[in-house]
Amino acid sequence: MNVLVTGGAGYIGSVCTEELLNAGHQVTVYDNLTEGHRSAVDPRAKFILGNPEEEGNILAAVESAKPDAILHFAASALVGESMMNPKKYFHNNLVNALKLADAAVACGVKKFVFSSTCATYGPPERVPMTEDLPQRPINPYGEAKLMFEKVLIWYREIYQLDFIAFRYFNAAGASEKFGEHHRIETHLIPNVLQVALGHKTHVEIFGTDYPTPDGTCIRDYIHIKDLAQAHILGLQPGKSGFFNLGNGDGYSVKEVIQMCEKITGKNIPAIEKSRRAGDPPRLVAAANKAFTELGWKPQYPKLEDIVKTAWAWHRKHPTGYAD
Ligand code: UFG
Repeated sequence: MNVLVTGGAGYIGSVCTEELLNAGHQVTVYDNLTEGHRSAVDPRAKFILGNPEEEGNILAAVESAKPDAILHFAASALVGESMMNPKKYFHNNLVNALKLADAAVACGVKKFVFSSTCATYGPPERVPMTEDLPQRPINPYGEAKLMFEKVLIWYREIYQLDFIAFRYFNAAGASEKFGEHHRIETHLIPNVLQVALGHKTHVEIFGTDYPTPDGTCIRDYIHIKDLAQAHILGLQPGKSGFFNLGNGDGYSVKEVIQMCEKITGKNIPAIEKSRRAGDPPRLVAAANKAFTELGWKPQYPKLEDIVKTAWAWHRKHPTGYAD
């Protein structure tokens, strides 16, 4: 297929672009490089330096790429930041996504693949979490993603724009070539590995009084290449709707730090801080729907292997894409 990947210079988009190309698809990446890095774009892909704020820019990109499908990764993706700057999240993740969906309709694109999130659920009634749980986000990031999920439902019904939306749990790990480098890093695993690399003196633990066994938040870490494979499966005809993508195993912040100590062989000092606003205590996926309906099978389900690939990438690229 001919696919347009927005955010293909970002962490998840770069690895998905690589895997789409490996699977034989043609890829055009559209990215404004505010979060992404030009060198994270697979050289086999075409590249459009986007400016989504400019009138008609997104539509022009879709018109020139003439894609069969659009994979929409471009977004602001920090839960904590969304509590301080909600405007940025509703604008980037809802308004700009809407412009893209309108362009898809105008250009007769057959399928829209949307990067949604488990943050749309808010604190769940039960874990592991199935797709039918009530969605009650507790941060603007999750709220904006949920609002766009609803746009997609109506656009499918009224404009016949078919969609598949993946609710990612915590993306982690790296491919051999592409990994996680945010200009301001807030994510747990890369922050812990920065300490192992000697770039930071310690990691901070945000909250030790959650209702979890060790008091720290629990997340379900999913390998970036496994996420990419789900997208490739989602492009098959007849695949539609909402899918959780996670491994079904939850690890606390403290357990992640211990795993990073084991893999890197380094001592990782940690300082306990107060809670970060907007963090649900425990998010763990039930991804049975993706297993059965898409035939998805994660290849790197163990946290140990996820951290190993992240560590291998960070050691090879100690300053990320800055080198
Ligand atoms: N944390 C720390 N110290 C850090 C960084 C994070 O204690 O230095 C904690 C957080 O408070 C949270 C957990 O580690 O409890 C995971 O935090 P991340 O920032 O790594 O990830 P989030 O769960 O907040 O969010 C990520 C993505 C979102 C996505 C979400 C799904 O940023 O886009 O996973 O759970 F929606």
